Amino acid sequence: MEKVFTIKNEQEMINFGNIIGKLAFPNMVISIEGTLGAGKTVLAKGIGQGLGVKDVINSPTFTIMKIYHGRLTFYHLDVYRLSSGEEDFDLEEYFEKDGVSYIEWGKNILDLLPKNRLEIVIDINDDLTRAVKVKAYGSQYEAFLNEVSKYENYDS
Ligand SMILES: Nc1ncnc2c1ncn2[C@@H]1O[C@H](COP(=O)(O)OP(=O)(O)OP(=O)(O)O)[C@@H](O)[C@H]1O
Ligand SMILES: [Mg+2]
Repeated sequence: MEKVFTIKNEQEMINFGNIIGKLAFPNMVISIEGTLGAGKTVLAKGIGQGLGVKDVINSPTFTIMKIYHGRLTFYHLDVYRLSSGEEDFDLEEYFEKDGVSYIEWGKNILDLLPKNRLEIVIDINDDLTRAVKVKAYGSQYEAFLNEVSKYENYDS
């Protein structure tokens, strides 16, 4: 199941993330793709807000993972520099810790990701709005995506 959302600006991306964070469930895994500057980290900030994270969320590029505490623990990973088999710690264990894992460049570790997950791809449109494609794998994620789709407006 796939849905595409048009997100007009940074604030709308935050609001969209907020909806995801509010509806998120334990053990949730979200992999996210998109070119440099597409909005992966902005979306992470919104999801963190929706999860009630109070700390500022920045890009974890140089640390691979940052952990934030909210309603659910938020594991923000950036595996841009990793490829499957090369990782120096057990990333998979974080996908089973009752938190929400958000993995930038998840394709690099595709065979470590659980089969059931949310896969997001952000494309930059010609007018600089973002096309956010969300694919749900597994019934729990499909139900989740249906809930997210009920919100049609992301301007505050
Ligand atoms: N519709 C939009 N949604 C999200 N960000 C937008 C949008 N329009 C413009 N922007 C801008 O695009 C940039 C997105 O930056 P962000 O750090 O989230 O990208 P990224 O995908 O994480 O890139 P990187 O791969 O370098 O980490 C921000 O500067 C933001 O203000
Ligand atoms: Mg980023």
